Amino acid sequence: HAPHELQLTAIPYHYHEGFLPETREQFQSSFLIYDDFISVEEEQSLFNEAISNFRETERKHWNAHNLPVIQRLQKFAFEPHLKLLPYVHVLDLAPQGYIKPHIDSARFCGDIVAVLSLLSDSVARFVHDQSKDQIVDCLVRQRSLYVMKGSSRYDFTHEILRSEDSILKDPNDNERKIDKTRRISIVCRCEPDVTIRHKT
Ligand code: OGA
Ligand code: MN
Repeated sequence: HAPHELQLTAIPYHYHEGFLPETREQFQSSFLIYDDFISVEEEQSLFNEAISNFRETERKHWNAHNLPVIQRLQKFAFEPHLKLLPYVHVLDLAPQGYIKPHIDSARFCGDIVAVLSLLSDSVARFVHDQSKDQIVDCLVRQRSLYVMKGSSRYDFTHEILRSEDSILKDPNDNERKIDKTRRISIVCRCEPDVTIRHKT
């Protein structure tokens, strides 16, 4: 699992009808996803440590087993000049839980957001903030790492759909139901840019 062996995953995307080709290019080059970024064993170990007591927590310290995994993620996803936020956000979504559409505040979070998914597959939906008919759904697999930067980070809201809404259409319009169970995500962010260069 050395990062240099990682391939960008050709994940199932479903661009809703009317999604413009130029917007698609913008989105696709700014939203990256890597399947199997961590092993089953690393997932179990992170799970054990991530969820002690809290449903949603911030973690500054990781045990000796998990710290290298977190550091591998950070080194892989963030350009070296970016300063990482010391706290890593851990979210524990119940099987019926979901994350509402939002854009991570540019006042508290910098240019890159990297998210590791444990325990369950899910569907992430992106909706263009300025034209709500530009919608794309992406399969986010268990143990994958996804990275938002540029357009996907700033121009689109992101959300994690409810299990019952987690349906992904393929290019032939066949529907695939994704069974979202309990899901834990580990969210790494960097410091906001003090020179206020919010939009790319
Ligand atoms: C967030 C967020 C997405 C995820 O915490 O801001 O968007 O996949 N999380 O957990
Ligand atoms: Mn977010």
